[in-house]
Amino acid sequence: MCIRSGEWVIISKVNLRVKFKEKVIKSLRFRLILIILCAGVIPCAASYIGIIKTYESRAVSLRTAEIQNQCTILCDQLNTYNYLADCSSEVINASLTQLTNIYSGRVMIVDRNLKVLRDTYDLDGGKTVVSENVIKCMAGESTNFYDKRNRYIEVTSPITEVGSDKIVGVMLASVSTDSIEDSLRIFRTKGIAILGMVFAVVAALSFLLADRIVLPLKKIAKGIESVTEGYSTEVLHENTFVETWQISETFNKMLGRMKLLDDSREEFVSNVSHELKTPLASMKVLADSLVTQENVPIELYEEFMEDIAKEIDRENDIINDLLTLVKMDKTAQNLNISQVNVNELLELILKRLRPIAEKKNVEIIMESFRPVTAEIDEVKMTLAISNLVENAIKYNHDNGWVHVSLNADHKYFYVKVADSGIGIPQEDQGHIFERFYRVDKSHSREIGGTGLGLAITRNAVIMHRGSIKVYSEHGEGTTFTVRIPLIYVSA
Ligand SMILES: Nc1ncnc2c1ncn2[C@@H]1O[C@H](COP(=O)(O)OP(=O)(O)OP(=O)(O)O)[C@@H](O)[C@H]1O
Ligand SMILES: [Mg+2]
Repeated sequence: MCIRSGEWVIISKVNLRVKFKEKVIKSLRFRLILIILCAGVIPCAASYIGIIKTYESRAVSLRTAEIQNQCTILCDQLNTYNYLADCSSEVINASLTQLTNIYSGRVMIVDRNLKVLRDTYDLDGGKTVVSENVIKCMAGESTNFYDKRNRYIEVTSPITEVGSDKIVGVMLASVSTDSIEDSLRIFRTKGIAILGMVFAVVAALSFLLADRIVLPLKKIAKGIESVTEGYSTEVLHENTFVETWQISETFNKMLGRMKLLDDSREEFVSNVSHELKTPLASMKVLADSLVTQENVPIELYEEFMEDIAKEIDRENDIINDLLTLVKMDKTAQNLNISQVNVNELLELILKRLRPIAEKKNVEIIMESFRPVTAEIDEVKMTLAISNLVENAIKYNHDNGWVHVSLNADHKYFYVKVADSGIGIPQEDQGHIFERFYRVDKSHSREIGGTGLGLAITRNAVIMHRGSIKVYSEHGEGTTFTVRIPLIYVSA
């Protein structure tokens, strides 16, 4: 099937209209308007209908009772004048006509044989009436009936024999309810006018209120949009409602965090490039001096090549650190869990790190309170604890000490790495686990490192569903405590 360009225009217009409608219907403003309108108009409309209905039923029952009374009085008079035997009584006929005129109705007197003796409309005189209500009334039960559709009330009243209770006839009166209908019409017209006014006022109010409620949200959305699109970096201040204030605050916090991440990323890039460039620069100097010199003694070659190899190792370390972190993020769920003797694991780590400590004359003391075996990923846990001990040596004074202890209870094992080093200022303690965060940038650069060590440690600990805490006094040393469950429970 081929669609011409004109048809495409129509289709896309229809699509746009449908999308616009969907957007409007789903918008908070539209829903608020609808809710306020419903809340304002529905109770008014319900009251209006209730009032009309109550008035109608009350007016009908009052009119029915009135007619019933009149009929009872007339039936007594009919008895007195023995009207069923002789319908010529002027007094009664006048009363019947009067009743008919006052209530715009019709009165019929029916005898025992259901024969109409008198009809004020002079239409059915002499005819037989077969009406359920008349038959019921003949049996002694007065009836009344309201025909809403044809707008009349029909009332029957028994005529009893003089001196006894025997029913000898029935008075059947039908009266028009036009006057009630007229009053109802006036009520309805006025009621609808009032309802219309209420609707207009509530509609105006609902638009006003909805706009007032939605406006701060729109401002927030606009603020977020301009930040997202990069036009602004300003924080939000939307304090109209507590909720909008909370959204603004949360957004500002997120913005702050984003900025921090951005800053630390930039810093990371410059750190990494610096760290990667330093060994390269040294290698270049060493290589150049070998190339430019003539008749270089073999000993110098060996010495320079050794230095070059060291720089390559350092370069390798930095790249490995970065790769470890990236890999850890990607394989967060893939722990290689096995039963590990944690005492042996710690001994091994310390054995590997002792030569570095000895260079600074830092004493490493190990204290095991009990044998501990736990379900852990040996490689990742080694990495985590090595980083802590490495830091404890790296950020220590010459002739300082590092104290590593291992303890356990029935649920967890605890590794504590305490040092006599430079300590971490209070304000930095909350950030040291962030990637690329280094406390004293210039000093840290001298010492070397990428600021990834603790991020790697924290990742590994969290993957084991453990926790890590730092306690430190600036200038007085640092203690890291790690708590890891003895039994690994996968998510
Ligand atoms: N035991 C400690 N004593 C004093 N400062 C510490 C200690 N451990 C960590 N820090 C501070 O926290 C920062 C972050 O440590 P982290 O191990 O993540 O990075 P790094 O040691 O600088 O580099 P990397 O470990 O990647 O080689 C360090 O730069 C240092 O300033
Ligand atoms: Mg480190």
